[in-house]
Amino acid sequence: MDTILIVDDKKSMLDMLSKTFRPEGFRVFTASNVADAGKFIDQGEIEIVITDLRLPDGDGLDVLRAVRERFPLLPVVLMTAHGSIELAVRAVKEGAYDFVSKPFDPEHLLIIVRRALSEGMSKKENIILKKEFSRFLEMPEVVGVSWPWEQVMEKVRKVAPMKTTVLILGESGTGKELVARAVHHYSPRAGAAFVAINCAAIPKDLIESELFGHEKGAFTGALEIKPGRFELASGGTIFLDEIGDMDMNLQSKLLRVLQEREIERVGGTKPISVDLRIIAASNKDLQKEVSEGRFREDLFYRLNVFQIVVPPLRERAEDILPLADHFIEMFSRDMNKIKPVMTDNVKGLLKGYDWKGNVRELKNVIERAVIMCDSGELDTKHINIGDRFPDRLDPDASLHAVSDAAVRGAEKVRIEDALRKAGGNKSRAAEMLQVSYKTLLTKIRDYGIEGRI
Ligand SMILES: Nc1ncnc2c1ncn2[C@@H]1O[C@H](COP(=O)(O)OP(=O)(O)OP(=O)(O)O)[C@@H](O)[C@H]1O
Ligand SMILES: [Mg+2]
Repeated sequence: MDTILIVDDKKSMLDMLSKTFRPEGFRVFTASNVADAGKFIDQGEIEIVITDLRLPDGDGLDVLRAVRERFPLLPVVLMTAHGSIELAVRAVKEGAYDFVSKPFDPEHLLIIVRRALSEGMSKKENIILKKEFSRFLEMPEVVGVSWPWEQVMEKVRKVAPMKTTVLILGESGTGKELVARAVHHYSPRAGAAFVAINCAAIPKDLIESELFGHEKGAFTGALEIKPGRFELASGGTIFLDEIGDMDMNLQSKLLRVLQEREIERVGGTKPISVDLRIIAASNKDLQKEVSEGRFREDLFYRLNVFQIVVPPLRERAEDILPLADHFIEMFSRDMNKIKPVMTDNVKGLLKGYDWKGNVRELKNVIERAVIMCDSGELDTKHINIGDRFPDRLDPDASLHAVSDAAVRGAEKVRIEDALRKAGGNKSRAAEMLQVSYKTLLTKIRDYGIEGRI
């Protein structure tokens, strides 16, 4: 049974609509002002709201806002009197599902309500999806003691409470996503969704409908209305990762979203307003991408409101050991092992290494070490680094062997990076690397690249 809330200050209207909906199998609640409506909405059982525009203690827009705040996907239909069409249009812009002008045929309202509810079904499925995307519940521990890292966290704390767009730049594996999550976590939106989108991993022909959603019948295969990730993130934070890899065409659409704060579903006719905090990240030099014509300048300026540069690990060597210790603890716990202690040699080795893959590389090295370590002491023999550095080769190696090792090392890093960007999708990674799928598979096997990137 569908539960409907009808809000109107006229008892005659409430009675008339109750008589329309009850026989149709609806459970009907009624309220005659904004405050009472709010109480019903808070209970969380309402599946659709119909509200009059003028109410004694406010208006239908207040009801709409109360709904959007608590249950962004709950449909709201407005009833308007003659002459208030403009307000109704504004309400639709603010996210109302639809409106009817008084006087109206109750049958017409019934049709709208049924349509809203059937679309709602697919939205509910999307709420489940939304839970998968949003990882706001698990804010991982952030470790760092160095001055450069302190500067990063200081910026995070300053900008978090604002709605300001944040652009996070830094090399691969430095912790950009972690910083993005921290911004969300310290913001008033912490309780709402954090939706991360890896712009490099979603195939080009799917990304528009992924981001903006689509209407039923927008293209072959679009059997249902599907809200996009921007819509799902409304009320929360959207994290556009690897923004430097976004297609030019999509860049202009994103620019529109940033300017208007509204989206249009593929095949849609009416814009839907979204309330979003936007965070973008890239390991590319975006300014250079702009000057070389691969990134829209206007979009760059829209994103570059507040910039946080996450420094590479080699520029904050003081963080290496605290991070290593943190990862040893984490993996020991995961693997049910007693936490081993690092020997001084290990400490020296870790501190002296240049960590081209930054924190992610350190994390991977430690994970392997904890797997290998069976005693209480983590020693250099457990640490597997440096395989890609020819200077660690046999001192008598031929030039040929040296250059071969260098190429293999560089290719390995690049392949791991592409696989990660492609979310583990090998054909997508092959596309990014401009090699055939078969070549990529061979190299993955040759270089012993692990399945989990
Ligand atoms: N300061 C930190 N404290 C604890 N863990 C960290 C820290 N920085 C990074 N990590 C961990 O290291 C890994 C890599 O970080 P993250 O994914 O945020 O990097 P990134 O900059 O987004 O990388 P990429 O550009 O490759 O996507 C993650 O597992 C993250 O949790
Ligand atoms: Mg990342």
